[in-house]
Amino acid sequence: MSVLRPLIFESGKLRVLDQRELPTKEVYLELETAEEVFEAIRSMVLRGAPLIGVAAAYGVVLAAQEILQKTREPLTVQEELLEVISRLRQSRPTAVNLQWALDRMTRVVQTGLASTDWVIQLLQEARAIEDEERARCEAIAQHGLALFERPLRVLTICNTGRLATPGIGTALGVIYQAHEMGKIRHVWVPETRPWLQGARLTTYELQNAGVPFTLIVDSMAPVLMAQGEVDLVIVGADRIARNGDTANKIGTFALALAAHQFGIPFYVAAPLSSFDLSLETGAGIPIEERGAQEVLGWGACRTAPPNAPVLNFAFDVTPGAWITGFITESGILTPPFSPSSKPFADQ
Ligand code: MRU
Repeated sequence: MSVLRPLIFESGKLRVLDQRELPTKEVYLELETAEEVFEAIRSMVLRGAPLIGVAAAYGVVLAAQEILQKTREPLTVQEELLEVISRLRQSRPTAVNLQWALDRMTRVVQTGLASTDWVIQLLQEARAIEDEERARCEAIAQHGLALFERPLRVLTICNTGRLATPGIGTALGVIYQAHEMGKIRHVWVPETRPWLQGARLTTYELQNAGVPFTLIVDSMAPVLMAQGEVDLVIVGADRIARNGDTANKIGTFALALAAHQFGIPFYVAAPLSSFDLSLETGAGIPIEERGAQEVLGWGACRTAPPNAPVLNFAFDVTPGAWITGFITESGILTPPFSPSSKPFADQ
């Protein structure tokens, strides 16, 4: 299988695979400024909670390169970097990984470095974030194996794999690992309207990896559950509150509701960087609302009258009570989650 690299920082530039073009074209864009990174995240050139956190971290490195061409005065550099960080924070609102990665970059900026060290220190931190997120994916996949006593038919949503993280993925990482152990009977892949992460990206990944799957329209998932065709649901997460309420791709709520109805285990696979323990419940999670064009058609093809009113929430919040467990790099957890208890206290 060709190893997909959704993002590569080299020679002072961030090369990103343009996911808007997949699966028909593999096009890499070269980003040279923090503003280009902001725009790439906002317009979903790259997406997926862990990946946008890593991209934003590299965006801060690009900003340091830009700023240092104008000034080397430490206080000015620091101030301008903090401004860039607050801009990058606004590129997408729901995934907490973005905020978490930028919090880490902020701490480096705030240490008040000697001006020659800015790029080196920031690059070191961005690379550490990327490497740690990659390692977390591996650990999540290993812990997820505990769910597979026998080969299972798994349903997932959106794209949570190599295109959504710097590693093998979260929910899809578990599926890859289980497949390697001969424990995947089948994967059901809902299209994931309107952006079609399932149809365009997850199918592309699974096909490359030789994992057996079937693409379905979103509304078919509960029917398959009712027919006994689904043994397990595993999804990713963009933000998890202390009580386990979980924001993830729109459609996750409906899957969890159906799984709850039919007694099917429903797991969230996510790194600890996806937990927002400042929030008691999911009510406080900001839900991104995206433009009408995503729903009115695809590309140049219009499927609805141009001025039809549209409501387009990119994410929903699944009640923690419907979630069987959270597969993390520290094992399978259940709520409530507390900053003072394991594994969060160790972070
Ligand atoms: O809008 P997207 O494509 O960024 O949404 C992605 C998801 O909802 C994923 O499930 C989530 O970010 C986890 S990715 C490992």
